[in-house]
Amino acid sequence: MNAETLKRVAAAKALESVESGMALGLGTGSTVWHFVDLLGEALGAGRLDGIVGVPTSVQTERQALDAGIPLIELGSRETLDLTIDGADEVAPGLDLIKGLGAALLREKMVAQASKRLIIISDDSKLVPQLGVKVPLPVEVVDWSVDALQMFIEGTGATVQLRFDADGNVVRSDNGNVFLDARYPNGIDDPAALERRLLYRAGIVDTGFFLGMAEAAVIAGKDGAYTLTTESPITARP
Ligand code: A5P
Repeated sequence: MNAETLKRVAAAKALESVESGMALGLGTGSTVWHFVDLLGEALGAGRLDGIVGVPTSVQTERQALDAGIPLIELGSRETLDLTIDGADEVAPGLDLIKGLGAALLREKMVAQASKRLIIISDDSKLVPQLGVKVPLPVEVVDWSVDALQMFIEGTGATVQLRFDADGNVVRSDNGNVFLDARYPNGIDDPAALERRLLYRAGIVDTGFFLGMAEAAVIAGKDGAYTLTTESPITARP
């Protein structure tokens, strides 16, 4: 199975958790693209109805509208029933790094407003410890970015301002920029680092999603399986 097939397999499995009438948080990224596509198909075919969605990015909003998924504002419901989102790293206990797709702030706002968060991913995202494969995205205000970069470097990271393939600075849908912090030996204490970073004025949010996901639907060559917070990260069907 190629990477896109694995993503679709995970998305299809997660769709089994969706029931008619739910208010859903819709994540961002190439894996969630498949979920939104399948959800639109299910609504179109009448297999599900009464669904409303809250998109976590302009990109997902456009796709969801094209797919015929009715959208609502985040504040129009006290809570959402379920959010389905992707991840960049999934560690034991289902602690996550997210944000390489530049949507981490809205993703975290939507996830925190949801009763349940289910992650969908292929098995390449499973790691024994956060930070061993990808940098930690840190969303910061676009003012005195050099000062914020030096602060984050002081936590032991090598830090780079994020640019796109055309050489333009990447901005979130909220107009902020990203400092990607690479920790050479991974991140020993994500909760402590999260507190330290969030305490610093100018840092808007980090890509840590700690203790938020109840399950991760992981697609591997043998199909999709579900990890929970109790599962060893190497679990297979
Ligand atoms: C978006 O900001 C990210 O948090 C995505 O959820 C994450 O990058 C996963 O994206 P893919 O499904 O494209 O790997």
